[in-house]
Amino acid sequence: MMRRKTMIKTNPTKKRARKSRRQASPGNTKSRKRPAILTNLPGPKAKRILTKDHKYVSPSYTRSYPAVIEQGTGVWVSDVDGNVFLDFSAGIGVVSTGHCHPDVVKSIKEQSTKLLHMSGTDFYYPNQANLAEKLAEIVPGAKNKKVFFCNSGAEAVECAMKLARYHKRRTRYIAFTGAFHGRTFGALSLTASKVTQRRYFSPLLSGVTHVSYAYCYRCPFHLQYPSCDMWCVSYIDDVVFKKLVPPEEVAAIFVESIQGEGGYIVPPPRFLPALRALCNKYDILLVDDEVQSGMGRTGKMFAIEHFNTKADIYTLAKGIASGLPLGACVSRAGIMDWEPGSHASTFAGNPVCCAAALKTIELLESGLIENAARLGKIALKRLSELKDRYEFIGDVRGKGLMIGVELVGDAVTLEPVKDRRNAVVYEAFKNGLLLLGAGESSVRFIPPLVINEEELHTGLDIFEKAVKKIFRAD
Ligand SMILES: Cc1ncc(COP(=O)(O)O)c(C=O)c1O
Repeated sequence: MMRRKTMIKTNPTKKRARKSRRQASPGNTKSRKRPAILTNLPGPKAKRILTKDHKYVSPSYTRSYPAVIEQGTGVWVSDVDGNVFLDFSAGIGVVSTGHCHPDVVKSIKEQSTKLLHMSGTDFYYPNQANLAEKLAEIVPGAKNKKVFFCNSGAEAVECAMKLARYHKRRTRYIAFTGAFHGRTFGALSLTASKVTQRRYFSPLLSGVTHVSYAYCYRCPFHLQYPSCDMWCVSYIDDVVFKKLVPPEEVAAIFVESIQGEGGYIVPPPRFLPALRALCNKYDILLVDDEVQSGMGRTGKMFAIEHFNTKADIYTLAKGIASGLPLGACVSRAGIMDWEPGSHASTFAGNPVCCAAALKTIELLESGLIENAARLGKIALKRLSELKDRYEFIGDVRGKGLMIGVELVGDAVTLEPVKDRRNAVVYEAFKNGLLLLGAGESSVRFIPPLVINEEELHTGLDIFEKAVKKIFRAD
């Protein structure tokens, strides 16, 4: 059973922060809360759930280890057998304010006694308008924006695709290799992260052309930044728009400001500004998919803010409501010019989800974004030191608490090591740390943004041990 006492509050006082820093030095492990693995994994109760799940639940899900979670508080979760794990996955980047943040739970409870559903498609209610107003304020760009609410990241992307076509009366899109925008047919047509996600689903939406993302660690053009002069963007103009795709037919370029599922890839500083300039040149809309990188995760509210660039349309989901299903597509008001009935959704912008989102944003703005920025630097420093020591750690990259570590066979060939990466993730699980892979050979670190320094080092200790065991290093 987990103790509520360990709940992390936001905006820690200076005194508490000092204490936390003192306790958090990697050598000081005495007073730390640790994961507690009490049974074999999976434990007896977990085994029973797994049997049922395997019988009745779709096998298309991508579970990499048998974690059967029953409850969560802050960055800690416990399974049905009472094993306690440190969660560096945040439910795939969703529980931004931590598991069951008491203030979010309170807002949910209060709203759920008043109104569970009315449908924003046909009726009005205060929470939806309030949240739209707040999103219009925090999303980069002029304040005059409009918001379409939906239930997931893929739906936010679907909305952006339809909106771009509607507004521009153009049919084509540009997207990037490695991109993940979701698995519904439209979004899947943009997704180019893993072939498994596309196998047997063709034909997908026509009119999508994929080009290379600025993945400098493995530059597809074998160039170096900055001497490459952003060839991956010039390529769109000089090759794609001259030989393949008439630019005046392109409605939008879809990009993740930091590529998520594709491997936690941070583009170089000039990538997004160059894309923006290209869009301006041909009057193409720039769509920034912030589903994974948004809502404070990178130490700014939106990852694109690290790159001094503004998009025309933004897609949001995951961390927006601390675990309740909500997505949003936000654009300049003039772009969202479609007529009633052209796009809508029954459940979208549910009042309880909106209440959770309003509280989530309040918490993010009152300390959690700052915490993500500060702890992200500490994590990057420690992981970079590991990289200097071990050649199987090929690359460490990230912003705030959106960090990827790319594992490789050796420092010369940079051979991807998917099996060993998976083994590291599994080994961490056995020792009480929940991690997820990303891309072919990377591990992602996306803890809830309420994490403190102690908890961060506890997780990194377990990762370090796991990676050294799997790669047989001392
Ligand atoms: C950048 C990005 N866009 C879209 C999606 C799709 O979101 P969902 O799984 O909520 O449909 C994801 C999911 O991982 C994502 O990372």
